[in-house]
Amino acid sequence: TKEISNREQKEAVAAKIAERVKDGDVIGVGSGSTSYLALLAISKKVKEQKLNVMAIPTSHEVSLACSIMGLPTSTLLNARPDWYFDGADEVDPDKNLIKGRGGAMFAEKLVMKSAPENYILVDSSKFVSFLGEKFAAPIEVDPRAINLVETELAKLGAKEVQLRMAVAKDGPVITETGNLILDVRFNKITADYEKEVKSIPGVIESGIFINYNLEILTT
Ligand code: A5P
Repeated sequence: TKEISNREQKEAVAAKIAERVKDGDVIGVGSGSTSYLALLAISKKVKEQKLNVMAIPTSHEVSLACSIMGLPTSTLLNARPDWYFDGADEVDPDKNLIKGRGGAMFAEKLVMKSAPENYILVDSSKFVSFLGEKFAAPIEVDPRAINLVETELAKLGAKEVQLRMAVAKDGPVITETGNLILDVRFNKITADYEKEVKSIPGVIESGIFINYNLEILTT
């Protein structure tokens, strides 16, 4: 029943974000199950009201969903999002996030940073009192840098580093840009961590989002 109630909460925030959609919008679309439900609600409204809307997807998963739902897509090279929506794995009291359970945080950060308005859609299970309370922080790493990054992360206070393994095949998860993911537990994720982690050579991006201009939408 917990699953059901989380799903109901996700559907309720999906309906809220669909209300924002207006004719001519270019919308950045995050990945994950909450974003998927939001996209469903948006595409329904677009069809019913015959709106002209363009999506900028953050993963193959979202591109395929847009194609199935009949939403035209574009890229950051050809369009600028008017606004962006996404889910999150954790939200702390200062609206900082951990994202990337789905491994799409690199593209998510690119589209989020490109959009003037960002909406994070979450059910009540996502609120934590500090980042890292439930989830490890995912870090996308160039495969050549994996040992170097692990060494440098230890200096930053990483207490557990795990190479994310694929479920449906042997071997590690390979991201859409051909990289690996390290799931990292820190003693404490401080305000500087996003920048410090990013400054290690070989780190493509992390799922730590600190001090972004976000509005959290929940039920
Ligand atoms: C995708 O890489 C993630 O950042 C998702 O936004 C996050 O994992 C939330 O996913 P759900 O909406 O499925 O909980």
